Amino acid sequence: MAVLEQLTSQQAIDLENKYGAHNYHPLPVVLSKGEGVYVWDVDGKRYYDFLSAYSAVNQGHCHPKIVNAMVQQAQTLALTSRAFYNDMLGKYEKFACEFFGFDKLLPMNTGAEAVETALKLCRKWAYEVKGIAENEAEIIVCENNFHGRTTTIISFSNDPVARKNFGPYTNGFIKIEYNNLDALESVLKNNPNISGFLVEPIQGEAGVYVPDEHYLSGAKALCEKYHVLFIADEVQTGIARTGKLLAVDHENVKPDILILGKAISGGVYPVSAVLANNSIMDVIKPGNHGSTFGGNPVAAAVATAALEVIRDEKLAERASVLGDLFRKELNKYIETSKIVNLVRGKGLLNAIVINDDEESDTAWNICLALRDNGLLAKPTHGNIIRFAPPLVMTEEQLLDCVSIITKTLSQFEE
Ligand SMILES: Cc1ncc(COP(=O)(O)O)c(C=O)c1O
Repeated sequence: MAVLEQLTSQQAIDLENKYGAHNYHPLPVVLSKGEGVYVWDVDGKRYYDFLSAYSAVNQGHCHPKIVNAMVQQAQTLALTSRAFYNDMLGKYEKFACEFFGFDKLLPMNTGAEAVETALKLCRKWAYEVKGIAENEAEIIVCENNFHGRTTTIISFSNDPVARKNFGPYTNGFIKIEYNNLDALESVLKNNPNISGFLVEPIQGEAGVYVPDEHYLSGAKALCEKYHVLFIADEVQTGIARTGKLLAVDHENVKPDILILGKAISGGVYPVSAVLANNSIMDVIKPGNHGSTFGGNPVAAAVATAALEVIRDEKLAERASVLGDLFRKELNKYIETSKIVNLVRGKGLLNAIVINDDEESDTAWNICLALRDNGLLAKPTHGNIIRFAPPLVMTEEQLLDCVSIITKTLSQFEE
């Protein structure tokens, strides 16, 4: 079978099942084209994308400015490795540092790699600046976190599916309850070896859990008090998704280490980054860390274009306005609904909680019906469905989506 041959949905699914590892459980829909807020399946049926590749496609599918930047750079110079300088990386680093307000950026490719980078940076800072004895540094993380899939990251996950039979695990992490400042302070107070606090400003994968107001600013203040680095994992929440450039901006918090991924490339290319000021980043010396593809010219061109789109199209403002409208409209429906308990979120990162037990397949079945009605979404955990459309949506399109969602949900009311 030639690779370019047009496949039916079933053929494409059968091929993935037979030749691909079964590490995902996709919704049965086979996509072959995307533009803006829409994707099309192999039969030409059009859907609203309400997942945005887990918030990577904030700028909309195949944004022409980002795609052009990629194509032009790929035709000029694609990869040099960091053995040599290239004429794109420095320009991008300057632009991104000024955009986010940090001294330096360390370029990587995926979110998990950027999280690993931040953990290594934090540990090295702990030994060389804070003065913790070698191999004694510990980092605080939160229960129900999701930071990626590497061996170290799953070592501090409490999701049994992500963890089981992948041991032995990496040491040096202390887990506390999310959204609990007392829990944070009690660990900080009793342990002089803490070097960092790694936190998602909103827990996306766990089901879009928005912490109480002042949690992030309170956590940052505690980190300052105990001379510990506040590390914000904004891989999912960052780049305008929650209605501000960063989710920590809602509380005017400046992280010591900022982790970005996904939408920093608008979803067209794997790009991630860690940003920090010199007092932290300068502990990294040649040979300490790196990646063959990290900071390549295509990534630099793509990320610059993707951030310019966020700025020029005012996508944070749009996410804020549309998010308020989305929750307002869904709440009207929920008032009389038996099948949906609540909607929660910030900007255009939202979720509904289905009134059924966690093990039921109601949320999955609702997603199948949403698909049939022209909108793609996916359950996060059990009975929670995440709604995260591209931020380039118009108000008219959003209201159309609300009507698809409420019509679909009403099919499941008793
Ligand atoms: C908060 C957070 N951190 C890290 C990651 C990992 O990113 P990647 O899948 O690009 O490795 C994700 C992915 O969903 C995420 O949501």
